[in-house]
Amino acid sequence: MSRLVLGLETSCDETGAAVVRLDAERSELLADVVASSMDEHARFGGIIPEIASRAHLEQMIPVVTTALERAEVELSDLDAIAVTAGPGLVGPLTVGAAAAKALAVGLEVPLYGVNHVVGHAVVDELVHGPFPERVMALVVSGGHSSLLMIDDTVGVTELGQTLDDAAGEAFDKVGRLLGLPYPGGPHIDRLAREGDPTAIRFPRGLTAAKDQAKHATDFSFSGLKTAVARWVEAKQDAGEEIPLNDVAASFSDAVSDVLTAKTIAACRAHGVDTLIVGGGFSANSQLRDMAATRCAEAGIDVRIPPIKYCTDNGAMIAALGAAVLRRDLPPSPLDLPVDSSMPL
Ligand code: KG4
Ligand code: ZN
Repeated sequence: MSRLVLGLETSCDETGAAVVRLDAERSELLADVVASSMDEHARFGGIIPEIASRAHLEQMIPVVTTALERAEVELSDLDAIAVTAGPGLVGPLTVGAAAAKALAVGLEVPLYGVNHVVGHAVVDELVHGPFPERVMALVVSGGHSSLLMIDDTVGVTELGQTLDDAAGEAFDKVGRLLGLPYPGGPHIDRLAREGDPTAIRFPRGLTAAKDQAKHATDFSFSGLKTAVARWVEAKQDAGEEIPLNDVAASFSDAVSDVLTAKTIAACRAHGVDTLIVGGGFSANSQLRDMAATRCAEAGIDVRIPPIKYCTDNGAMIAALGAAVLRRDLPPSPLDLPVDSSMPL
């Protein structure tokens, strides 16, 4: 018997709705629709929660309706509603949770409030099939840089995270200081492809022996961001031109180097041989290339979903809802709160 799960995502600027069919063996994505309010935020240089919340309210019904049409299912066919309960922006999360609760009550189906960060990893099951018993997941986005261990029997454990900026956040901040439009991540990626990653040796945060001993699975990117700012300022003070391509390539190299080295070391330390890379920052070409090369050398099977499933979407929430349903975990109460800093 198969079951249909609707997943809703509204933790930041994307309104996502997706339908997943869950069978005994695997989850299949039937439709995934995303609307973004990013264009409305770009001129402010960051996400404005109030604008994002209003956009979710306007987009929710059209996005859900289109997802159901594309999946060729009716509202009444749904067996469960999954929604992002956190982490994220409280206003935007609240709009999604309210919609999900209304649907769950109206359709008399269970509600599952799920974790956005875990969703970024589990979406890969829709692309590359069910996870093996234990996987390591590196979730890197504008809001998170987390290393998770997903174990079929133990559940999800956060082994580490960033102590300051997330990888995407560091890219966006460096983008700003290089005068690039917001969000700077994709622009730096584009420039980096034309530059020399060995041109400037920027620091690798938390990789010195003493830091590695204490923070083997944590990341830190704010020192790197400051180092880039200092380097750029020194060039400007000397009246020299900034070699944007080389700065972008060297900065990106430092971020990808640390992310991949620490993640692979964690896989080795925990005896895990499958790595999932997810989150909006996993669109980064240097990270994708470096993860592929280094994991191949280390004998680790690396799974990275296509870019459209790496950024925020409903599919990741429907996939996680299906995974929860498959394990017969209890549904969430209808007074489910949202939590901006939701733990795992
Ligand atoms: O997962 P996501 O869509 O939203 C959050 O939950 O944060 O991630 C967006 C982040 C932004 O910081 C953006 O600049 C970054 O991912 N990003 C990239 C690239 N594409 C998106 N950073 C570097 N290279 C890219 N190609
Ligand atoms: Zn995200």
